[in-house]
Amino acid sequence: MAATSFISHSPFLPKTIRFPLNQKPFSQIPISPLKPTPKPLSLRAVLAQDPTKTLTQTTPFEHCFTKSSDGFLYCEGLKVEDVMESAERRPFYLYSKPQITRNFEAYKEALEGLSSVIGYAIKANNNLKILEHLRQLGSGAVLVSGNELRLALHAGFDPTKCIFNGNGKLLEDLVLGAEKGVFVNIDSEFDLENIVAASRIAGKKVNVLLRINPDVDPQVHPYVATGNKNSKFGIRNEKLQWFLDAVKAHPDELKLVGAHCHLGSTITKVDIFRDAAIIMVNYIDEIRAQGFEVDYLNIGGGLGIDYYHSGAVLPKPRDLIDTVRDLVLSRNLNLIIEPGRSLIANTCCFVNRVTGVKTNGTKKFVVIDGSMAELIRPSLYDAYQHIELVSPSAGAEISTFDVVGPVCESADFLGKDRELPTPAKGAGLVVHDAGAYCMSMASTYNLKMRPPEYWVEEDGSVVKIRHGETFEDHIKFFEGL
Ligand SMILES: Cc1ncc(COP(=O)(O)O)c(C=O)c1O
Repeated sequence: MAATSFISHSPFLPKTIRFPLNQKPFSQIPISPLKPTPKPLSLRAVLAQDPTKTLTQTTPFEHCFTKSSDGFLYCEGLKVEDVMESAERRPFYLYSKPQITRNFEAYKEALEGLSSVIGYAIKANNNLKILEHLRQLGSGAVLVSGNELRLALHAGFDPTKCIFNGNGKLLEDLVLGAEKGVFVNIDSEFDLENIVAASRIAGKKVNVLLRINPDVDPQVHPYVATGNKNSKFGIRNEKLQWFLDAVKAHPDELKLVGAHCHLGSTITKVDIFRDAAIIMVNYIDEIRAQGFEVDYLNIGGGLGIDYYHSGAVLPKPRDLIDTVRDLVLSRNLNLIIEPGRSLIANTCCFVNRVTGVKTNGTKKFVVIDGSMAELIRPSLYDAYQHIELVSPSAGAEISTFDVVGPVCESADFLGKDRELPTPAKGAGLVVHDAGAYCMSMASTYNLKMRPPEYWVEEDGSVVKIRHGETFEDHIKFFEGL
C-alpha cells in the first residue's frame, strides 16, 4: 500500500512536498519507521501556530533554527519535533537550504566590485546535494584530496573555479587536476616536483599558486591553525626565491598565477586577515618584480561563527572582504576566498533523542542516541556547540548536565556542563551549528552507522539529501573475500 505521508504547512507556505520524509528517492517505496505502525505512517511536520512568532521573537540571535515563544524549536518555520517523528531514524542531520543560499549570497554581495572566485571548501561538508546547490549559486570548490576533486567534478563545478590544496597531494590526483585544468597550490619542494610530473603526464601546463605561510597568529585552537611558521602546510617565506627559480625552470609545465595563504579556521577578528593580506600583497609585489604575471591573491578561508549563540557581534563576510578590498584593488588582483565553516556551519542541527538521564557522583548526564561518531568536534577540539531541547519542558528541573553519547569512550561527549531542563526519555535534543566539520568527520566507530541527512527547502518541504548508512552497508565490505 502506498504511504500517505504528508507534511502540513502553515498558510504562508505552498502545500507542496517534493519528497515525503519516509520515502526512498528512487524507488518511492516507504522506509519503515523505527517503530512498526499498523497503518501507513502519517507525517505531520507542522508549522508554528502563529508563523510570525517563529523566526523573530524571543532572541535577537539570527538563525534559521529558532526557539519560538511557544517553546518549540523551528527550522525555517517547521517544527523540528515533527520532522523527528517522520525521519527514518535518529540521530540525523537537518539543514536549511534557504540558509545555505543566504550565506552564499552574503559572500557574493560582499565581493561586488571585485573580480573574485568563491571556492567552497568541500572538506567542511561534502554532501553532494549541498555541493550541487552551491555550484548552481555560482560557487567554485576547494579540494584537499583526489576524491574531493572527483566529487567536485561529479557535482559539475567549473574546473577553472576549483583550487586543489594539500600538503600531500598524490601524483595520480595531480594528473587528474592537470587534465581538468584546476588551480593547484604548490605546498613544498616535493609537491612542486609532483606537479611538474603531473603536467608532463597530462600534457597540460598547470596554473599554480604558491602557498606561503605569512606567520600571522590566527588566535584559534592549535589544531585549526595552519599559517604559522612551523605549520606542516605551505612554504616559509625564506624559501620563496627557491620556488620562484624552480617555477622559472619549468616554463612548459608551470604557470605561476598567484599566491595563497590559509591562516586557520574559526577566526573571529578580521584584522588577522588584513595583516596576512598586507604580507601577501608584498610577496606578490616581489614576485611581479621578477617578471611573473601573477593575478590571483588567495586568502583562504577561516571566518568563524557564533557557536556560543551569545549574540556577540562577529565579523560577517562583508567585514572580511572590506578589510582586504583596498589591497586587492591597489594591485589589480583577482581575489580567491575559500570559505567552508562560515558558509555551511550554521545551516544545520544534529537532531537526537534522549535515551535517558543518569547521575554518577556529582555528575549528571543526559545520554542521547548521537555521539562522537557522528559529531566529533567537541571531543576532538573541545569545541563548544550550542545544545537545546526541541520542545518545551514546563516544570522540569533545570540542572547542569554533560550531554553524552553511547560510544564506549569517556571522550564521547557533545557538550559539558550544560544547563538544561531535565529531559524526559525520548525528548528531542539538538546540537546546533553542525553543518561544518561534523558529518564530513563522522565515522562508524562502535558501528554507529553514519546518519541520514535532510534539508528544509524554500517551500517548507523536507527532503532527504543523504541516505543513512546501514549495517548491511558494513557487511558489504567483506563480501566475496
Ligand atoms: C586550505 C584551506 N582552505 C579553506 C579552508 C576552510 O576553512 P573554513 O572552514 O574555516 O572557512 C580550510 C580549512 O581549514 C583549508 O585548510
